[in-house]
Amino acid sequence: MAKDKDKDKSKKASFNDLLAAQVGNEFAASQHYVAIAVWADAQDLPQLAGRFYQHSLGERNHAMMMVQYMLDRGVEVTIPAVPAPPKDFDGPVDALRSALEQEKVVTAQIEALFQAARDESDPLGEQFMLWFLREQVEEVANMDTLVTIAERADDNWFRIEEFLARETDSSSNTGTPPAVAGGAV
Ligand SMILES: [Fe+2]
Ligand SMILES: [Fe+2]
Repeated sequence: MAKDKDKDKSKKASFNDLLAAQVGNEFAASQHYVAIAVWADAQDLPQLAGRFYQHSLGERNHAMMMVQYMLDRGVEVTIPAVPAPPKDFDGPVDALRSALEQEKVVTAQIEALFQAARDESDPLGEQFMLWFLREQVEEVANMDTLVTIAERADDNWFRIEEFLARETDSSSNTGTPPAVAGGAV
């Protein structure tokens, strides 16, 4: 019995297991961005706060897209607990770097999901993950830009606000987004 258990451990995680975990990862990203938004709001940075309140909803939608997909494919859905987000930030650069790191981690997770679908010869799974792969390219690029802007602004935080007021958060992901369980927020 113990031997079989060990064998199971060495097995690669299935697409369904990774997707179930990713629901939690997307909710964790959502909480992380709420934490950044609230921190920015308390620092009187309404543009930065607004961007992250919005982005938090986007991550919540990602989680619920995955939930809808699992419902559609008859996979049992459990909504997982999420780890606590960072408590405090030293400044906008620190907050934005934490968000950039978060997006890079998620990109690796999404790539692993795509690969798992391919390994399992699951074209629907692959196709579902494609939208998220494109989304990650965009989100990493946008966050990278914000880190650069914040680094250049240094102590003059108002310059970040000016930049955000000028630049709209436009999406270049032209694919049709997957359906969101309960509707997008
Ligand atoms: Fe996401
Ligand atoms: Fe994201």
